[in-house]
Amino acid sequence: MKTIVANWKMNGDEQLCDNLIFKLKDFDVGQSLIICPPFPLLFKFKNCRFCLGAQNCGIALHGAFTGEVSPQLLRSLGCSYVIIGHSERRRLCDENDDILVKKYEIAIEANLIPIICVGENFQEDYRLALEKQLNSFLKVRNLEKSIIAYEPVRSIGTGIIPDSDKIAKIVSFIKGITSAKILYGGSVDSSNVADILRIDPVDGVLIGGASLRTEEFYSIIQIAKNCC
Ligand code: PGA
Repeated sequence: MKTIVANWKMNGDEQLCDNLIFKLKDFDVGQSLIICPPFPLLFKFKNCRFCLGAQNCGIALHGAFTGEVSPQLLRSLGCSYVIIGHSERRRLCDENDDILVKKYEIAIEANLIPIICVGENFQEDYRLALEKQLNSFLKVRNLEKSIIAYEPVRSIGTGIIPDSDKIAKIVSFIKGITSAKILYGGSVDSSNVADILRIDPVDGVLIGGASLRTEEFYSIIQIAKNCC
């Protein structure tokens, strides 16, 4: 199965965790499924067979950073992945490329696999925007072992997704820059996930809203399992 990442953002509760764990109890999704709940819900997934990721991490292993969470602590809570540079954090928390590279480096030090989000804004040319965002990461360690999620900002939570040719073109463009795995993210749901996963250079999907509805998310996983 290609990779599926669920980004719950600031949503979800213990009940949602229980529902998902119950629904997936007999489903062998192994390393291909990565659930990224809010920090306080990470403990719910500690002994699950699928992978766990955090949505963010601090810029150091420990220290005086009120309100931040150490990547080392995330690792000890069972995380193997951490999302870095989601467009909401770039926009709402002013996370610039320097901060994101620091987070990347410290995540690697804590033995987490970074999932770096990139994507053009409404007015931007995708080539220029992606080159700029990715250039900052070209000197980091292990970039080829991390994951890149291509998420055009206009597609996040809007139901508007680029056509398959465009996704293929942009993901291939990113593959010309790095050999990391490339996911597509933005308005993925059960009605479009098969078409997206069948796009050859796409290695998986990052799902926001649709991952919060257990039945819908379960359908997505089933489709992903059967389609490629
Ligand atoms: P969406 O969000 O699937 O709700 O569009 C994706 C994301 O922001 O990661």
